[in-house]
Amino acid sequence: MTQLNIDQVFATTASRACDFQFTAEIAKVFDDMLVRSVPFYSEQQFMIKELAKKFHIKDTRIYDLGCSTGTTLISLAQEIGGDAGELIGYDNSFPMIDKAKTNINQCGLDGLIKIDYADLNGAVVIENASVVTMCWTLQFVRPLQRTALTKQVYNGLVENGVLILMEKVLTNNTDMNRLFIETYYEFKKRNGYSNEEIAKKREALENVLVPYRIEENIELLKRSGFEMVETFFQWYNFVGFLCVKKGR
Ligand SMILES: C[S@@+](CC[C@H](N)C(=O)[O-])C[C@H]1O[C@@H](n2cnc3c(N)ncnc32)[C@H](O)[C@@H]1O
Repeated sequence: MTQLNIDQVFATTASRACDFQFTAEIAKVFDDMLVRSVPFYSEQQFMIKELAKKFHIKDTRIYDLGCSTGTTLISLAQEIGGDAGELIGYDNSFPMIDKAKTNINQCGLDGLIKIDYADLNGAVVIENASVVTMCWTLQFVRPLQRTALTKQVYNGLVENGVLILMEKVLTNNTDMNRLFIETYYEFKKRNGYSNEEIAKKREALENVLVPYRIEENIELLKRSGFEMVETFFQWYNFVGFLCVKKGR
């Protein structure tokens, strides 16, 4: 992996210029941003690897939607390696795609992992997959396009294949939402972010990251065809869903 650059994006930006975007500035510090902004990120990566290993079927593909710098795919390739037909990552940020390609190359995994541009708001090619991961990304897809996307995932999976979905969620109760946000800010402060950095990032994300409630996500996934949907991880409003295609 390339050297870890420290995330100071919102410490150096004078004021909120525009909505959050996955720019070159973000891509450069993204690996640090994730571990300092997603609670239990490393443990989640371990769980994803563990689940993927159990559900992966030899000679079928693994896809990561919203693959960013390639972290999940690299870890899956290192675990499942040659048994995987192919590992494919999609993202619509060119700086993220470049960073992912560099990281993959540095890990000597060019032959196994392919990264392509795709906009998840539209049609994506998902074929012969037994594992699809989508971590902290569906929340950025336009709400009106989410069912179409999860249906494409369902249709691209083989029987007994899985979608491993990680999402920020809302609760049914405003007091609980407030409490969970407070605990999250405390988590970010423990990881070295200032109040100002936290507030600026929140403002930048406001119209861009649109979370659903757990029930809304489950309804969406069932509506898309998934016969089995279970939560396998939760830290306040950070949730992991394991969605199995049972087939007919
Ligand atoms: C929070 S990051 C994902 C983190 C990554 N999955 C991980 O766990 O390491 C969200 C990613 O989704 C990508 N993204 C957002 N909207 C997208 C869209 N409509 N199509 C494709 N990628 C998108 C962003 O460029 C970004 O790289």
